[in-house]
Amino acid sequence: MGSLLEAKQVSKEYISGTFIKKRNLALKPISFSVSDDSPSITAIAGESGSGKTTFARVIAGILDKSSGSLRYRDKDIDQMNSEDILNFKKEVQTIFQDPFEVYNPFYKVDHVLTTPIKKFGLAENKSDIDKMIISALEEVGLRPDETLGRYPHQLSGGQRQRIMVARAFLLRPRIIIADEPVSMVDASLRATILEEIKQLREIHNISVVYITHDLTTAYQVADNIIVLYKGQVVEAGDVENVINKPVHPYTQLLTDCVPRPDPDQKWSKTSGDITLESRIINGCICAFCNQNESLESDRKIYEFNKKQIVSCKVAEKKKICANEDISAYFTKKK
Ligand SMILES: Nc1ncnc2c1ncn2[C@@H]1O[C@H](COP(=O)(O)OP(=O)(O)OP(=O)(O)O)[C@@H](O)[C@H]1O
Ligand SMILES: [Mg+2]
Repeated sequence: MGSLLEAKQVSKEYISGTFIKKRNLALKPISFSVSDDSPSITAIAGESGSGKTTFARVIAGILDKSSGSLRYRDKDIDQMNSEDILNFKKEVQTIFQDPFEVYNPFYKVDHVLTTPIKKFGLAENKSDIDKMIISALEEVGLRPDETLGRYPHQLSGGQRQRIMVARAFLLRPRIIIADEPVSMVDASLRATILEEIKQLREIHNISVVYITHDLTTAYQVADNIIVLYKGQVVEAGDVENVINKPVHPYTQLLTDCVPRPDPDQKWSKTSGDITLESRIINGCICAFCNQNESLESDRKIYEFNKKQIVSCKVAEKKKICANEDISAYFTKKK
C-alpha cells in the first residue's frame, strides 16, 4: 500500500526573541501518512495551543519543519522541482482557521476563486470559470449574487470561511487539510459542510485531515483521530475506540467535557471529576501526567490494541508500538 503524503518524525520549534532566544517545541516528532489507495478522514484534536495548526501547516508544507522529512508521491518536498511543487500545491489543499489572513484586502473575493482556476488551468474560458465558481459557492451554501463582487471585509467571518471551503472543493485535490473549517458557521450549516467533507471522501476519493477542538464533529466525520497535548500525541486510532473508550487521562478529560443528550441527566450533574489535577497519575512519563520535562525524551507510545495507541503509564503493560507511523494503527475506510 502506497503513501500519498508521508511525514516522518516531523517537528516544529518556534524560536522568538532578538537577544534572548525563546524556544517553544510546539510539535514534537510525529510520523503520519495519508494512504494513496484508501481515502481517509483523520481528525486532529486537542485543546487550544496543543499544536494542531502547527501540525497542519507543517504537513501542508506551508511551515518549515525543524526536523524530519515530508514526502509527497514519494518525493521529498525539499527536493522537488517546480513542476512537482505546483502539483503538490494543487493536490494538497488547505482551509485555514482564520481565513481573513488569506485574503488580499485590495481584491474582491472572486480573486480567491479565479486565481487557482487559472493557475492550474482548470477551465477553458471565462464562461467555464464562472460556472465552476457558481457551483462551488452553491455547494457550501453561499448565494453567488450575495458573495461575488464584494471585498473580504464586506463579508462575515463565516462567509469568508465558506469561500475557502469552496476553493478547496473546486480544485478537487487528493488531500484537504482543514483547520477548524466550520468554527465560524452556524450549527445547521456546520452539519451541511461536514456532510460535504464526508462526501468528498466517498465520491471524489479525497482524504481529509480535519483539525478541530470539537470531539463531537470529529466523531461525526472522522474514521480515525489523533489527540495532541502540548505538541505530542497522547492517544490515536479508530475514532470509535478513542472517543468511546479513551485510555489516556487527557482524552478521558476531553470526552467527559462533551455534553451527551441524556434526558435523565440533570444539568448540574457531571460524569465524575473532570479537573485536570484529578487525572494526574503519579510517576507517569507522558507529558500529561508528568511535569518533569527532562523525562520527555523517554516517552513511549504503547499499542493498547490494534486500533488504538496511547502514550501513558496506564498502558505500560502493553507492547511498545513497533511502527512509528501512527497511521499504521488506523482503521481503513468504514
Ligand atoms: N508563529 C509562532 N511563533 C511562536 N510560537 C507560536 C507560533 N505559532 C504558534 N505558536 C505556539 O505554538 C503552540 C501551538 O500553537 P498552535 O497554533 O499550533 O495551537 P492550536 O492547537 O492550533 O491552538 P488553537 O486551538 O488555539 O488554534 C502554542 O504554544 C503557540 O503559542
Ligand atoms: Mg489552531
